[in-house]
Amino acid sequence: MKVAILGGTGNFGKGISIRLSKVHDVILGSRFKEKAEEMATKYEREARASLSRIDGSLSGTTNEEAVSIARLVVTAINAGALESFLDSSSDFDWGSKLVLSPVTRFEYSKGIFTYRPFQSAGRELSAAQLIKQRLGDPAQVVSGMQLVPASKLADLDSKLGYDVPLCGPKEACAEVSGVLRCIDGLRFLYAGPLSISYSIEATLPLMLNIAVRNSLGEPGLRLV
Ligand SMILES: NC(=O)c1ccc[n+]([C@@H]2O[C@H](COP(=O)([O-])OP(=O)(O)OC[C@H]3O[C@@H](n4cnc5c(N)ncnc54)[C@H](OP(=O)(O)O)[C@@H]3O)[C@@H](O)[C@H]2O)c1
Repeated sequence: MKVAILGGTGNFGKGISIRLSKVHDVILGSRFKEKAEEMATKYEREARASLSRIDGSLSGTTNEEAVSIARLVVTAINAGALESFLDSSSDFDWGSKLVLSPVTRFEYSKGIFTYRPFQSAGRELSAAQLIKQRLGDPAQVVSGMQLVPASKLADLDSKLGYDVPLCGPKEACAEVSGVLRCIDGLRFLYAGPLSISYSIEATLPLMLNIAVRNSLGEPGLRLV
C-alpha cells in the first residue's frame, strides 16, 4: 500500500517510515520537498543496512503531494503545529483517505506533564477528533500509536513489545492494523469509536508522569 507520513522528517516519522518500508511504499511528507527527499534517501540507506529484506520503498515530497498519492495518511506532525497544519492543508486531496493520527498534545511545567486537548466552539476535542472535524466526510480517521516511543521505533534493533489501542470506525481500524502489522512487536487492539481518542491521548502524560518519578525511561503500553 502507498502510505504517506506527513511530517515524516521528524522523530516519530523516522522509525515508522523505515519499518513500514519493509512492505509498503512510504512517501515522506514535509513542508519542504528537498528536506523530505534528503530524509527519504537517508532512511532508505538505514533500512538497507539494518533490515534483511525490503519489498517496499521510501521517497519524499511535499505533504500535499504525499496525501494525493497515498491511501493511508499518517499525520506525524508536531502536535503544537497541528492546527496551523490543518489550516494550511484544507485544500489537499483528502477525499476518502484513511488517516491515522498518532498526535497527542501535552505540556510540561514545574515537573508535571499535562494533557492539552484542542478547543472548538467551546468543546474540548482530542487531536484525532479535531482532524476528523476539519477533514469531514468521507475521510476516515483512526487514532493510534501515541503510546509507542519514537526512539524505540527508530531503533531497528529494539524489540518493541507494545500494545497499540486503535479507535475510530471499526473497519478503518482493521485496515490500519493490517497495514501496520509488518512492524514486529506491536499488538493492535480495537478500543472503540473516535471519541475514545481523548482517553488514549491523555494516557501519555500520565505515563510520562509515572515514568519520570520511577526512573522507568521512555514508557510504552502493555496490557496484562
Ligand atoms: N516523539 C514521540 O515519541 C511520539 C510517539 C508517538 C506519537 N508521537 C506524535 O507524533 C507526532 C510527531 O511527533 P515528533 O516527535 O516526530 O514531532 P517533531 O519531530 O517535533 O515534528 C514532526 C514534524 O512536524 C513538522 N512540522 C513542524 N512544524 C510544523 C508546522 N508549523 N506546520 C507543518 N508541519 C510542521 C516538521 O516537518 P517539516 O519541517 O519537514 O515540515 C517536523 O519534522 C506528534 O503529534 C506526536 O504527538 C510522537
